Amino acid sequence: MKSKIMIRRFTILSIVLLMAILGQGCNKEKTILTPDEMQFILDQYSNTLSASNDLSKVPRRINENGELVTTSIYGWTSGFFAGSLWYIYELSGDDHWKEEAIKWTEALDTIQYWSGNHDVGFMINCSYGNGLRLTGNEAYKKVLIRTAESLIKRYNPAAESLESWDYREAWDGSTVWYFPVIIDNMMNLELLFEASRLSGDKRYENIAIQHARTTMKNHYRDDYSSFHVVDYDTITGEVLDKATCQGFVDESSWARGQAWGLYGFVTCYRYTHDIQYLKFAKNIADYMINHPNLPEDMVPYWDYNVVDPGLTPQWDYDPTMFDEIPRDASAAAITCSALFELSKYSDINKDQYFEAATTILSSLASSRYLAQEGKNRYFILNHSVGSIPHGVEIDVPLVYADYYFLEALLRYSKPGGNR
Ligand code: GLY
Repeated sequence: MKSKIMIRRFTILSIVLLMAILGQGCNKEKTILTPDEMQFILDQYSNTLSASNDLSKVPRRINENGELVTTSIYGWTSGFFAGSLWYIYELSGDDHWKEEAIKWTEALDTIQYWSGNHDVGFMINCSYGNGLRLTGNEAYKKVLIRTAESLIKRYNPAAESLESWDYREAWDGSTVWYFPVIIDNMMNLELLFEASRLSGDKRYENIAIQHARTTMKNHYRDDYSSFHVVDYDTITGEVLDKATCQGFVDESSWARGQAWGLYGFVTCYRYTHDIQYLKFAKNIADYMINHPNLPEDMVPYWDYNVVDPGLTPQWDYDPTMFDEIPRDASAAAITCSALFELSKYSDINKDQYFEAATTILSSLASSRYLAQEGKNRYFILNHSVGSIPHGVEIDVPLVYADYYFLEALLRYSKPGGNR
């Protein structure tokens, strides 16, 4: 009898050990940050939360004095803070972060009825979208679908695109843009695909697909670099202008724009499994990771062409205004996250995309970009750029750089998870 019990105990112990070993093999979590660095990230976001009592003022960046700068819920970045809190919850597993993420997500409630610009996709998908994914809250589903309904009001069947900004003046003060569509808009399609998946209403997905097709046709050059802005005639759909707003010159490759485009087409493939999007995303990725002006650490200059000779911007540019040409950590973080996803889908160059993403992630996690204890109290990454031509947010921490960095960390450490 005693020996039977011993054998049973031994068998159970063996199974537990075997499961632990197998579990480690299948579910192995990798990390690029040390436990201290991970704790530092949590501390930075705890500081940001302590400094933010008003839910209508959403953390966005810090100023030159190290103070927190916020945006209203209508600012294009308003969803990233809640989104970062969701990712920190996912990385840490600590419910405290979930409670904060819920608070900052639900503070954006009214955005679902707003169609003031295309950014509602970013705002609601990063906040409510992650919230739905991590909690299954049915009420969040309705918010996503209602936001998609607001977003498609900006669709014009002649231009076959969603309008990004309302009618406005371009740089030169004489050109006007009637129906400007910016490459960034590719990022709002995820919300539309998701809304169709959740509701079964194909209108959102059909518009997303048409917008993506129009973008492939009109925004991209033969080398798979992208213009920032394409302006359309709202009656005929004719292309009226191809230009930049935040890049160096009209013909150049604004770094964050290239990143938005890559991420957007990877997302299109995720939802449609249409091989044309995968091929397109690979071509964009190849353009970016093989670019002769990409620095060795793979964190791009704020525009890929800023170091090319002979380009004259339409704005007041003084090359001596910086000691070093600014990099854009936000562009790197978005690219990194997109490359991790691309490496899962791609048969060719899979390892190359994964390696490139890992190099970018390691660079961002190094002391050159990671905020340092005792320096800035808020946010994780230094050295992002909002808009150099507008002279705003140059070489600062920005909440969306953190959001995509955290997403990339998750994609690296939990390859099967996070979408
Ligand atoms: N979508 C605005 C930006 O990337 O600056």
